[in-house]
Amino acid sequence: MANKRRIKIIGTGFYVPDQILTNADLEKMVDTTDEWIVSRSGIRERRIASAEQATSDLCLEAARRALKNSHLSVKDIDLILVSNNTPDTLFPATACWVQQGLQADHVPAFDVVAGCTGFLYGMIVAESLILSGTARRVLLIGGETLSKITNWKDRNTCVLFGDGAGAAILEESKDDSGMLSFYWKADGSLANLLLMPAGGTRNPASLQTVAENLHYLHMKGNEVFKHAVKRMGEAAEEALKRAGLTKDDIDIFIPHQANIRIIDAVGERLKIPKEKVFVNIDRYGNVSVACIPIAIHELRQQKKIKPGTIIVLDAFGAGFTWASVVYRW
Ligand code: UT7
Repeated sequence: MANKRRIKIIGTGFYVPDQILTNADLEKMVDTTDEWIVSRSGIRERRIASAEQATSDLCLEAARRALKNSHLSVKDIDLILVSNNTPDTLFPATACWVQQGLQADHVPAFDVVAGCTGFLYGMIVAESLILSGTARRVLLIGGETLSKITNWKDRNTCVLFGDGAGAAILEESKDDSGMLSFYWKADGSLANLLLMPAGGTRNPASLQTVAENLHYLHMKGNEVFKHAVKRMGEAAEEALKRAGLTKDDIDIFIPHQANIRIIDAVGERLKIPKEKVFVNIDRYGNVSVACIPIAIHELRQQKKIKPGTIIVLDAFGAGFTWASVVYRW
């Protein structure tokens, strides 16, 4: 392991919209209660983008903050990757809208679409591109405006999601810190359990697709729940094995923030003490690909990450996709 080349995060930042939607607000919109939402999901409030804000606007702000945090300018970046499931437009990629906003016309830009696992898939893609010499410094952003594809009349889904974006700047590590290992997988046979059914070429937009609410997120929640617990457990165990580490080596576990019961179940399966498990779902809900970069930045702000801290990142989402990254700060 000693001489293994690896990538590291040299700056982070995040942005969430100002507008807060509380469970009390939702009680006025659908047949639900604060008690149900908190006990079944752990969510108390979430952020909602304004009518004018698209995903790239949130990503742009997160990117500016990450650049500032790493004392770099746009000129120092040579690739933009954006993971999201709520693009500004079906094409071009949201990464290109972000590039336009940053005036970074010297770099290539593309999206990495992998459900809620997109940020970890993005880190893995970035690792390959950096270590192969294709890119020197990558701006990786995970951003969503899930409120724009939420059916606000469907209590099964509308209480769960929020909007936000997180960004990280990645480059090759010169010491033994950085990404130690990863594990990633997908199972497309379960794609129908979590998707936006229309608006693509399988089911193009029509008056009928609009009338049938097919441009909203659809999810078989309890099915997704079962797979998430199993796969996130598997991913973290495999990634740890590949890093030559054990569960006891984990200092901080950052799971995808979809449901506090999933987080608790994965933590219990891995036997990770609760104080090592990061949770912010109460404040932001499920912000999909933005969960993990927001978590990393918040932990840095709280000074909970120090040189040498072993962090395990773990995510699961539409596709299904799942992945875990083991990281030494
Ligand atoms: O980020 C990508 C991955 N996404 C996830 O991992 C989400 C995974 N799924 C979940 O988090 C959970 O399955 C949910 C939070 C979506 C639902 O929790 P659940 O314990 O699986 O509930 P359920 O869907 O089995 O529904 C239980 C009951 C139903 O009523 P009946 O049929 O038992 O009378 C629902 O109609 O709860 C009802 N219900 C609600 N009641 C009050 C569903 N949503 C609500 C609501 N308020 N908002």
